[in-house]
Amino acid sequence: MAYVQWSRRFELGVPFIDADHKVLVGLLNRMNDAARTDGDLTDVGGILSALVDYTRYHFAREERAQASAGYPDIDEHREQHARLAIEARRLFEAYRNDPGAIEVGDLLDFLSDWLMDHILLHDMAIKPYLLANLEAVSAAEGVDFATLMNDGRKRAIDWTKLSVLAVEDSRPFAHVLRAILEVIGIKTVSVVEEAEEGLRLAQEHPYDLIFADWRMGGMDGLEFVHAVRGKGIAAPVVMLTGYVDESLEAAREGFQISEWLQKPVTSAELMACIARHVQVRQTA
Ligand SMILES: [Fe+2]
Ligand SMILES: [Fe+2]
Repeated sequence: MAYVQWSRRFELGVPFIDADHKVLVGLLNRMNDAARTDGDLTDVGGILSALVDYTRYHFAREERAQASAGYPDIDEHREQHARLAIEARRLFEAYRNDPGAIEVGDLLDFLSDWLMDHILLHDMAIKPYLLANLEAVSAAEGVDFATLMNDGRKRAIDWTKLSVLAVEDSRPFAHVLRAILEVIGIKTVSVVEEAEEGLRLAQEHPYDLIFADWRMGGMDGLEFVHAVRGKGIAAPVVMLTGYVDESLEAAREGFQISEWLQKPVTSAELMACIARHVQVRQTA
């Protein structure tokens, strides 16, 4: 049973806004799954980070739609968004500083209450304006997630040409990784929960970059990277891990790992990491 059940009463009738709201509800449900099924809180942090980033993106799209539709109360709505975004960011930072200090149940209740209230009360108020100006409103679909997360600076990377594989055995976090890699605009996104399946895909497809979880049941991240190299696959492999220390960093080359990336990872960190390794390959 989903934590928040999507229903038609949430629908505005503007496809990209409804799609965004569904993604946000999906992220809340995945956070609930992670909190219930996994003793490791790192995934909850990663999902919270994705929620913060996706909310920022959604608010930018929705505000642009309101401006195009000439919604008269846009300033008040913007203020609402700004307050929610600041609070969500504060929760993520608090979580990142001390994961144990936050009660996940309270966090979920708070996030779902504000999201549902905001959609049902405030977003519904803009519905008639948006529906009366659907063509103008559709321009807001063009907000670029990757540029927005890079503080408005467009990177010299064509995300639509990249292919990325991620091997992550936590189902909730795998779902979220896929959502983020897709909204970045990456053309080919493969996310699998089993390392054996990842190895098979890596042999079939020349991925530009591979993310692998360090701690997995069955074949773990290190065994996976060794198997990948054993098959002669040279793609950069970035290892996602809850903790990076100097000894791990010193062993990076020996492990044939391009980089350790510490969880919970933000979308901006994920993109910066991809950009580092794809550029290395392009100039090699
Ligand atoms: Fe909204
Ligand atoms: Fe809104």
